[in-house]
Amino acid sequence: MASIAVCPGSFDPVTLGHLDIITRGAKVFDKVIVAVLNNRSKQPLFTVEERVELLKEVTKELPNVEIDSFNGLLIDYVKEKDASAIIKGLRAVSDFEYEMQMASINRKLDEDVETFFMMTNNKYSYLSSSIVKEIAKYNAPVGDLVPQIVETALKGKYTELK
Ligand code: PNS
Repeated sequence: MASIAVCPGSFDPVTLGHLDIITRGAKVFDKVIVAVLNNRSKQPLFTVEERVELLKEVTKELPNVEIDSFNGLLIDYVKEKDASAIIKGLRAVSDFEYEMQMASINRKLDEDVETFFMMTNNKYSYLSSSIVKEIAKYNAPVGDLVPQIVETALKGKYTELK
């Protein structure tokens, strides 16, 4: 049976840190489904459709990676996709408590689904979508933090919002 993992997140927008985790995860699992949370209560910069498009573009060289979006509980989506694993990136100790809480609740909801944590590459340990947006908002370069197409999309978004 093929091993299928779901890599969930907000991806608002996808960073080089995310891409590193997705690429490494795709070497371990037969298929990785990157699932963008469609969370109406949050105020994202990019729409779900835009985030999905950016992810599709930056993962187009990875044949076993699929991009999708989901609503509701992650564990329900994982089961719907016949996946057996959740992949998450861990940047620092500060991520640990929240991630442990999520992994524990997901295991309580379905003990057959395992969460796998991958240590983020050191060069991206400080990186988050929020930090990227904060910098890009003030027109500072983000070219070494996000793929080129995301940098262009960020510039477009902030020009549009001005
Ligand atoms: O990139 P993020 O915002 O840290 O991703 C968080 C995400 C999408 C993984 C998490 O919020 C999530 O799984 N949400 C779906 C709702 C859910 O299943 N909640 C219960 C487990 S915490």
